[in-house]
Amino acid sequence: MLHKVHPVASYPARKTHADKSEYQRLYNWSVEDPEGFWAEQGKRLDWMTPYTKVKQTSFEKGKVDIKWFADGQLNASYNCIDRHVKKNPDATAIIWEGDDPAMDKTISYQQMHDEVCRLANAMKAKGVTKGDRVIIYMPMIPEAAFAMLACARIGAVHSVIFGGFSPNAIADRVEDCQAKMVITANFGRRGGNEVPLKSNVDKALERDNTGSIESVIVYKLLEDDTAMVADRDYWWHDVAGVCEPVCDPEPMNAEDPLFVLYTSGSTGKPKGVVHTTGGYLAYAAITHEYVFDYQPGDVYWCAADVGWITGHSYIVYGPFANGAISLMFEGVPTYPDVRRMAQVVDKHKVDILYTAPTAIRALMAKGDLPAQGTSRESLRLLGSVGEPINPEAWDWYHDKIGNSQCPIVDTWWQTETGGIMITPLPGATDLKPGSATLPFFGVKPALVDSNGSFLEGAVSGNLVITDSWPGQARTVWGDHDRFEQTYFSAYDNMYFTGDGARRDEDGYFWITGRVDDVLNVSGHRLGTAEIESSLVEHPAVAEAAVVGYPHDIKGQGIYVYVLPTDGTEITEELTKEVRQFVRDDLSPIASPDFIQWTPGLPKTRSGKIMRRILRKIAANEFDSLGDTSTLADPAVVDELIENRLNK
Ligand code: WT7
Repeated sequence: MLHKVHPVASYPARKTHADKSEYQRLYNWSVEDPEGFWAEQGKRLDWMTPYTKVKQTSFEKGKVDIKWFADGQLNASYNCIDRHVKKNPDATAIIWEGDDPAMDKTISYQQMHDEVCRLANAMKAKGVTKGDRVIIYMPMIPEAAFAMLACARIGAVHSVIFGGFSPNAIADRVEDCQAKMVITANFGRRGGNEVPLKSNVDKALERDNTGSIESVIVYKLLEDDTAMVADRDYWWHDVAGVCEPVCDPEPMNAEDPLFVLYTSGSTGKPKGVVHTTGGYLAYAAITHEYVFDYQPGDVYWCAADVGWITGHSYIVYGPFANGAISLMFEGVPTYPDVRRMAQVVDKHKVDILYTAPTAIRALMAKGDLPAQGTSRESLRLLGSVGEPINPEAWDWYHDKIGNSQCPIVDTWWQTETGGIMITPLPGATDLKPGSATLPFFGVKPALVDSNGSFLEGAVSGNLVITDSWPGQARTVWGDHDRFEQTYFSAYDNMYFTGDGARRDEDGYFWITGRVDDVLNVSGHRLGTAEIESSLVEHPAVAEAAVVGYPHDIKGQGIYVYVLPTDGTEITEELTKEVRQFVRDDLSPIASPDFIQWTPGLPKTRSGKIMRRILRKIAANEFDSLGDTSTLADPAVVDELIENRLNK
């Protein structure tokens, strides 16, 4: 396949943090002398106790242990706020753009300091102390960032839950990390709709295994007669409003947990990925600076939600550690209409825009309309994250949104990596649409075959990382075995990403997608096992198998095969009910696109479902089913093809 290359020189010249030779110099230094490189980079942060140790890491099976800057002490909130306040208290921290285009506001670092301190004091008054877990279930308002930073200030470990998640998802997470407090809002606003966040929390806390929660702080987003539980629920303005805007930052060890973020894997319930303080923050800061070429005064917009790792690292921690202006958008790119993204860019003179291929494809489907009536002249850099970006979407983003003036950084990374891992650097990397290009400083990617043997040259294989980087997750909350099992058991002494990739003749990486049972729907991770176990909880479902299939907008869609329980009458109503059941149980993102009822699933004689066959049928590619001779009952396949839904 021939791809157009966009050389560095084809973009308007501006002095970037790195050019080609600087990238090469820093990359070589970072992999040849990680101790020296990261000892230097750690100095981007202010330390209460300077570190003398830098890298102490082992990927060895049974002994996986990852520590960076282990004897240093610092506070993430201090690094994200106070040190900038000292220099310029009036500098803008957040530009907030409401769901309603008539609503916006600007928050300075000083204002952020005061709000964070007030809330931190209120949390302390409610008994939250260092090491306690706090759930944050908030809409995209500045208070979401304040809540994260207030936790960091007093050493509480936050776990942000995406506002689209269900009461069950909240309850599972509360139970898993034994959280003491929930911070929420009575409502959220998205795309003109009101989301009943507080009532979802109430439903979650009705479950009997959520007794660890002692208090709930509720931000009043809308006037409403919200039900408040006595001695448990408190209005934010009542408890924080009366507190002093000063709160000493808690000295934290570099390896103390900063947050837990739940993400889906190929088995079981979502796991709590643990990120710690020093390495994570240093890595978020350096990647934010180099990948987005952030320069003082730039308006930077990461259009993710704080409920995902992208929001943690690139709306909150990376930008604020760098004293940047971070634009926070409450709404969706298609409300009130598809021009919204471009309008926000013009309104706030956005320099840097970071969004996801699924959003780009949704806009691209509307042709020229999303750019209509806007100039987007302020833009000088675009970013993409979450899934592979197809060259067609890349071109549209580049030409229509970026006026063919802006490089695109296609950034590959994961919840577990904490920050960007494979990416171009503007001004330093020639671009190829669809390729995440080259590793960031300190990152050693490799391709291996199924036995773990290294593959050299231009080749496809499983993507692994052979040495540690500071932003790496340290463990799974309460289950270090699962951490080792999931990431370090496939291949000796390597972190396995779960992704497949191709490397071309220039050493560029092309991520091909997950090679495990993890789906990527609109850039969101879902485990097939997670959806299956939800499905079988419905009384009409005896057995379920879930696979992904290529979807024009979402990247992957969800195709469900279900076996009815005996005596079930299959109706359109029932199908709707099952779909709604999964939505309510997990989240709207997990809502199946197709639900095919079937009397049987293609199983081997030993009872293993042959997902390969189900994937092909879901993709409407049943001519190439491969060998079906090991099936217990090959006739099942004809039946499945006959009644397939994605025609
Ligand atoms: C999975 C991680 C990292 C923040 C958002 C997702 C896929 C992510 C890219 C990219 C191709 C990508 C991978 C990865 N992915 N970015 N630029 N090109 N694939 O975080 O929910 O932890 O998902 O997203 O498959 O494993 P996540």
